[in-house]
Amino acid sequence: MEKTFLMIKPDAVRKNLIGEILMRVEDAGFKIVELKMVKLSPSRAKKFYQVHRNKPFFEDLIKFVSSGKVVVVLLTRRNAIRKLRELVGITDPKKARRGTIRGDLASDVTQNAVHASDSAKSFRFESELFFKTKLVK
Ligand code: RTP
Ligand code: MG
Repeated sequence: MEKTFLMIKPDAVRKNLIGEILMRVEDAGFKIVELKMVKLSPSRAKKFYQVHRNKPFFEDLIKFVSSGKVVVVLLTRRNAIRKLRELVGITDPKKARRGTIRGDLASDVTQNAVHASDSAKSFRFESELFFKTKLVK
């Protein structure tokens, strides 16, 4: 079984969507193996999103993702990484398909409800920032 990492972002937490999002994830065949609620400091948020440090939206992204609590979740499923990205939908909720988490529950390109790992490499990096246990394989 493959593992992946999900983060429910501050906009979705503020809108009381934690339950709705976790229900969609479980209904899609994922098992929750670790879960916690945390507030990211700006410096931890910068580390988490360091691949985007040179992007024009970086400052807004860091401000947003450290603006309130997030829920970080480790999930397992067959083809978990690809399947979760499909369930989440594309980055801009206005373009995301109905039936996807972003398409149904978000409306802003920055405040887009959730984050999902996009590769095995980013999964390792992201999960190790939040969960102590070595999760490689
Ligand atoms: P994520 O990493 O959060 O799962 O999102 P993603 O792969 O779909 O998109 P990515 O390109 O990695 O961007 C990371 C997050 O940065 C914010 N963003 N804002 N204002 C903008 O044009 C813009 N573009 C991206 C979003 O919060 C996006 O999820
Ligand atoms: Mg990304």
